[in-house]
Amino acid sequence: MLAAWLALPLHNAGSLQRTIGRILELHRTCWLLDHRERLVESAWLGRGRYRSVGWPRPRRTRCTVTNQAHVLSLYRGGEPFRTDSSAKHFKVMDQDGEVNPLTIAIVGFGNFGQFLAKAFIEAGHRVVGFSRSDYHAVASQLGCVFESNADELLERHHPSVLVLATSILSTEQVLRQFPTEKLENCLVVDVLSVKVYARELMLRYLPVSSDILATHPMFGPESGRDSWRGLPFVFERVRIRRYERCEAFLDIFRSRGCTLVEMACQEHDHYAASTQFITHTTGRMLAELKITSTPINTRGFESLLAVVETTVRDSFDLYYGLYRFNPNAKEELNKMQRALERVRSRLEEYDRLYQAAESKRQ
Ligand SMILES: NC(=O)c1ccc[n+]([C@@H]2O[C@H](COP(=O)([O-])OP(=O)(O)OC[C@H]3O[C@@H](n4cnc5c(N)ncnc54)[C@H](OP(=O)(O)O)[C@@H]3O)[C@@H](O)[C@H]2O)c1
Repeated sequence: MLAAWLALPLHNAGSLQRTIGRILELHRTCWLLDHRERLVESAWLGRGRYRSVGWPRPRRTRCTVTNQAHVLSLYRGGEPFRTDSSAKHFKVMDQDGEVNPLTIAIVGFGNFGQFLAKAFIEAGHRVVGFSRSDYHAVASQLGCVFESNADELLERHHPSVLVLATSILSTEQVLRQFPTEKLENCLVVDVLSVKVYARELMLRYLPVSSDILATHPMFGPESGRDSWRGLPFVFERVRIRRYERCEAFLDIFRSRGCTLVEMACQEHDHYAASTQFITHTTGRMLAELKITSTPINTRGFESLLAVVETTVRDSFDLYYGLYRFNPNAKEELNKMQRALERVRSRLEEYDRLYQAAESKRQ
């Protein structure tokens, strides 16, 4: 059937679009059978199939369609779109060709905001920082701009993407004070480590015409210092109309080798409580024990030191935010406490048996 569509003669741009739409519709059907992230390379886009529908096939260009949503974005968009034939990889652009580079405003220019800024700049995007504290000097060192007035941030720079990298605890207050009504048509992305809460805040405070992407890069300045390769990047497309822009943003993480995991915010919080929150709690507990390196460290102990290292560097605000705003965290903390009690009572039980056996032997 696909072959039949591909063989259709095309006489004008309208029929080209309709035909591409139908092809993508068919592909969507295939895609829906398999929800995993896909990397479909030259297999179907590059080998002349677009040519058969009048597509200007770029020579020796590898055409990369990264996932189902990307294909849907082309299909649903229904707008003229172009390829950048000079690029190594197939790139989708808006009508005005403005998807790349993006102008990204980072609200909350602290530890994690700056860490993201470096990566965005390296990816060739324009970055504007914004925070309650003054980061002009840091921003100029990083090679970006900093604004301390929200109206000026929006009016001077017209960011097409706004990343919320504020602490979990302050995000609601920041959104309340921000001129959110000016974020119409903007893609707003949060990177908070709790997702259901962040999603609700964004839906509550942002104008309906804004796009919303809820994300959690499962790494930070410590764990992602050397490379992001293989590190999970969790996201949910909460409300996306301009798919190309959203894909261009996700491409920053894809191209650095992150493993993109599309997941509902609720599911994220469920998993994060039993992984991230436990890791942070363990790190903070071990820090309370003041464990330090010794001349006879085992590998296991080295790992524990690393857990302390990566968790206590994060602010207590962040840790408290995980506890306060992940509905599953309290239960995980209770489970940890019960688990420690069980381990302890098992040891004590063994101790009793051992001592009983010893006294029999004597
Ligand atoms: N660190 C990580 O490894 C990591 C990883 C993934 C996601 N995240 C998420 O990224 C976000 C930022 O994390 P972080 O590590 O930078 O530390 P954080 O302590 O969670 O957040 C610090 C940021 O929040 C801002 N902030 C704090 N209180 C504020 C208030 N009352 N009003 C306005 N802004 C306020 C700070 O602004 P000023 O600096 O201007 O004071 C700073 O930009 C958090 O939501 C966190 O969950 C962090």
